[in-house]
Amino acid sequence: MKAIVYTEYGSPDVLQLKEVEKPTPKEDEALVRVHAASLNAADFEMLRGTWSARFGGLLKPRHKILGSDIAGRIEAVGRNVKQFHPGDEVFGDLSECGFGAFAEYVSVPENALRLKPASMTFEEAAAVPSAGVVALQNLRGVGSSSLSFLLSDKGHIQSGQKVLINGAGGGVGTFAVQLAKSFGAEVTGVDSTGKLAMLRSIGADQVIDYTQEDFTKSGETYDVIFDVVGKSSFSRSVRSLKHNGRYLALGSHLCGMAWDGHHLWYADAGTDRLSCLDVHTGTILQEVVRLEVRTGLTSDGTSLIVK
Ligand SMILES: NC(=O)c1ccc[n+]([C@@H]2O[C@H](COP(=O)([O-])OP(=O)(O)OC[C@H]3O[C@@H](n4cnc5c(N)ncnc54)[C@H](OP(=O)(O)O)[C@@H]3O)[C@@H](O)[C@H]2O)c1
Repeated sequence: MKAIVYTEYGSPDVLQLKEVEKPTPKEDEALVRVHAASLNAADFEMLRGTWSARFGGLLKPRHKILGSDIAGRIEAVGRNVKQFHPGDEVFGDLSECGFGAFAEYVSVPENALRLKPASMTFEEAAAVPSAGVVALQNLRGVGSSSLSFLLSDKGHIQSGQKVLINGAGGGVGTFAVQLAKSFGAEVTGVDSTGKLAMLRSIGADQVIDYTQEDFTKSGETYDVIFDVVGKSSFSRSVRSLKHNGRYLALGSHLCGMAWDGHHLWYADAGTDRLSCLDVHTGTILQEVVRLEVRTGLTSDGTSLIVK
């Protein structure tokens, strides 16, 4: 079969279209003929070998075929596969099972796949898994994200809350806008000039052009600021949060923050710590190591509650 292979980190020039062996499904796997695969920002990070991408392979890529999101048709199944049959149209996320979407075939554990809704094309379905799940996890505070504690106890966004999405016009952002709207939030989308009309068309109530305006200077405050692209200034963003507001950021070490009106709780994915900062003095008051405490942490306005 044909696949796009890379054996070293670098620019797109290191990608090679090659003939490789067609995979054989293991007992719990399905062999999928890939009809569509989507490109995510994370694929570029893995191609270039950013610090987070190198956890899997310090000097060279661990997985030779990139790509996490697929939609396709099942060609064969291992003998322990229960849910799927040859001919089924499926979609799924391969990021937990070795990647490999940019190929004609991929062998996938059945639990990484779901039946594709008949109303969706393969291209539409392939665009959903990673970006959609990241947006949903962060807005609902569920799943494996280390910053999910920030929203866990009080539940997901409440109807009527004001939510700002920074980087709203990209892969994760477009899902975040639509999900926040479906939870009943009033949504402000921030992105570049050419994406503002599209953001309105998918439901954004207000739009801000980041090339013209800094949302932290408008005087507006929000219940949730979700910085999908990790480009906002943290110290300025705090001023734009309401009391007990939540600040979430992807694509940077500082992956999540909660401002309770007195203290700032922030999670650092690099050091795996949750810290409590007195913003007036800049002193770190408390540190909780290991962010794997995935649920049960919240703030009552003055302190951190660990259930
Ligand atoms: N997509 C996924 O499946 C996925 C999964 C896990 C984690 N992530 C992480 O999430 C982050 C975002 O991913 P993505 O797929 O949404 O990226 P994306 O599709 O590239 O979207 C980023 C958006 O942010 C805009 N932007 C750039 N600079 C900005 C700024 N200063 N202020 C406001 N908006 C700005 C970009 O617009 P312009 O380019 O026009 O300026 C673009 O529309 C990445 O760090 C990625 O690793 C993504």
